[in-house]
Amino acid sequence: TAAVAATIAFGATTASASGACDPGEVVIKFSHVTNTDKHPKGIAASLLEARVNEEMNGKACMEVFPNSTLYDDNKVLEALLQGDVQLAAPSLSKFEAFTKQFRLFDLPFMFANVDAVDAFQASDAGQAMKDSMQRRGLQGLAFWHNGMKQMSANVPLIEPSDANGLRFRVQSSDVLVAQMEAIGGSPQKMAFSEVYGALQQGVVDGQENTWSNIFGKKFFEVQDGTTETNHGIIDYLVVTSTEWLDGLDADVRDQFMTILDEVTATRNAESTAVNEEAKAAVIAAGGVVRQLTPEQRQAWVEVMKPVWAQFKDDVGQDNIDAAQAINA
Ligand code: LMR
Repeated sequence: TAAVAATIAFGATTASASGACDPGEVVIKFSHVTNTDKHPKGIAASLLEARVNEEMNGKACMEVFPNSTLYDDNKVLEALLQGDVQLAAPSLSKFEAFTKQFRLFDLPFMFANVDAVDAFQASDAGQAMKDSMQRRGLQGLAFWHNGMKQMSANVPLIEPSDANGLRFRVQSSDVLVAQMEAIGGSPQKMAFSEVYGALQQGVVDGQENTWSNIFGKKFFEVQDGTTETNHGIIDYLVVTSTEWLDGLDADVRDQFMTILDEVTATRNAESTAVNEEAKAAVIAAGGVVRQLTPEQRQAWVEVMKPVWAQFKDDVGQDNIDAAQAINA
């Protein structure tokens, strides 16, 4: 039944989902928070699910739960440790309680583009980050790309001062809190699943995210417009528990890792194109997209970049230097 299971749209309950696995198969529940269409993570997760269910039929069975139907990102790492799910792919901003190393990726204007992020992650320093939470029981398996972040609000954002006094939703990252304070905004940490409602009801005025998330969760419908700032990145760590991984038979683990590595390479190569498609879909649906002149963008750089100094000790000057060398 496993190959068939890949095509079934699961409901929100664990009971209905685990019914799709054959007895004796290793069950891999994968909980994430985004939509599945025109989304780098959503597409990658679906591809991983289809390939595991086809190629590992009889040995393993994967069930993906997108759209926060099982867990928000603030709960999913605990759920992994408790064995309630076996796979998650939270953004690197969501690991604050486990490591401060990933703060590097949240620093505004640290990486020029997703290729630079990819090159840093492929370096020894980047690869070592996947192992950095082992003593907390978590094992990073792969970095998955989303893309560059854009800023939206219920007023036009052209100059940094336009953000003065606005309430911005941020992911659960102190770097992002500091970044929004630097532009005079009032940041509020909030789960991804709550952002649309908070924007719609005016609990917050604005947010930052990638085109795929702005399209996928329809943020553009409840904002004045989105400004193409490309001021930061959202990237993911596919993560599991060390206990679960160590408990797998070697052949199952090896086959699973081979599939995961192939899916990672295939889908990471498409992440920028997927975000471009999502941006086009925002425009096609009537969303307002604003561009900055180089001088206007430089003003955002000047206001946001001082945040680096605050987090230098957490992320390491050597990592900052390495990232900057890649951009050059
Ligand atoms: C967010 O919370 O805005 C993002 O991390 C959601 C996601 O997984 O892309």
